[in-house]
Amino acid sequence: MKHVKRNILLNPGPATTTDTVKNAMVVPDICPRELEFGELTLSVRNDLIRAAYGEKNHTCVMLTSSGTGGVEACLTSVVPHEKKVLILNNGAYGERMQKICNAYGIGHVDYNQDWGYPLDLKIVEELLKNHQNEISHLAFIHHETTVGILNPLSELSALAAKYQVETIVDAMSSFAGMMINVEQDNIHYLVSSSNKCIQGMAGISYVIANLKSLLKTKEIKPRNFYFNLLENHLYLEKNKQFLFTPPVQTLYALRQAITEYFEEGPENRFARYASMYEIMKNKVQELGFEFLIEEKHHAKLLTAIMDPSSAAYSFNEMHDYLFERGFTIYPGKVGNINTFRLSNIGAIYPKDIEDFLVVFEEYLRLNKII
Ligand SMILES: Cc1ncc(COP(=O)(O)O)c(C=O)c1O
Repeated sequence: MKHVKRNILLNPGPATTTDTVKNAMVVPDICPRELEFGELTLSVRNDLIRAAYGEKNHTCVMLTSSGTGGVEACLTSVVPHEKKVLILNNGAYGERMQKICNAYGIGHVDYNQDWGYPLDLKIVEELLKNHQNEISHLAFIHHETTVGILNPLSELSALAAKYQVETIVDAMSSFAGMMINVEQDNIHYLVSSSNKCIQGMAGISYVIANLKSLLKTKEIKPRNFYFNLLENHLYLEKNKQFLFTPPVQTLYALRQAITEYFEEGPENRFARYASMYEIMKNKVQELGFEFLIEEKHHAKLLTAIMDPSSAAYSFNEMHDYLFERGFTIYPGKVGNINTFRLSNIGAIYPKDIEDFLVVFEEYLRLNKII
């Protein structure tokens, strides 16, 4: 097995991968129309459904795209022309859903909350009630990665059920990093991608879709082509193949990543991520930093930290110092507030976070920032 330099990615994905996932991509060339590749495709789809606890009523549609492609596929394939989708926006990815709908002329009702603040369930309910005859879907981000806030999945899904609308949940940076059960959480369409908490390589987005709901979209005159969810699904079902050319090697890596997910065990993965968050949060607080959002709303997968006020601080210099030592951090701007973001997803472990914090503190002290 080829050994590759290990970088600790604390950016919110693509995340650090294991050597075994990297090496899984080195395979004999294969035509993706071969039966062997079809079996691989089917096994990945089935295991993603299993990871979402959706065996009873859900299917899995995989697309060759980054995560946004999966979100775009959902919004543009499932909302009937005469209906609207209620979009909850408290970060860049909620806003992106609105931009997608604008690009395609899809009707949407917006709840715009200031970024970094929790959604008010009463307002969501009011909007669902006031637009009862127009809204067919409720779309929101589970873990809003812009700021690291966790939106209340079960409560929002319960409201959707009460007003009989279907749910589109962008679980890009939470799926396989925390407990999500599409059945219990009343999720009709869950979107995620290969390169976040599932710990694979970038290039595949997937939608865990309620099969009955998806089949009903047959009645909607298509407004898309490549990203038509139903067409992609029907082709995958009938032929065990992607409708269009898949990222062959990325799928082998995803197969390995999913195997490692089940080997580690979902509960253990969630606990590992949460324990890294605790280590990071405690030290960052001890060093005198403040968080952008209230601690009780933290998703525990990514933390947005306010830039220090010291004139000696420069994000770029700090980034470069850390990067040269194998750690990648990420900036973040919310309105006029500057933050930097530390994520704790991927094939990284508590010891990596401890090592990072030593170098982080060393940089801050060396430059008299703290
Ligand atoms: C919550 C969320 N939604 C959507 C996306 C967009 O994914 P991509 O950049 O893979 O298109 C991201 C990316 O970080 C995300 O965190």
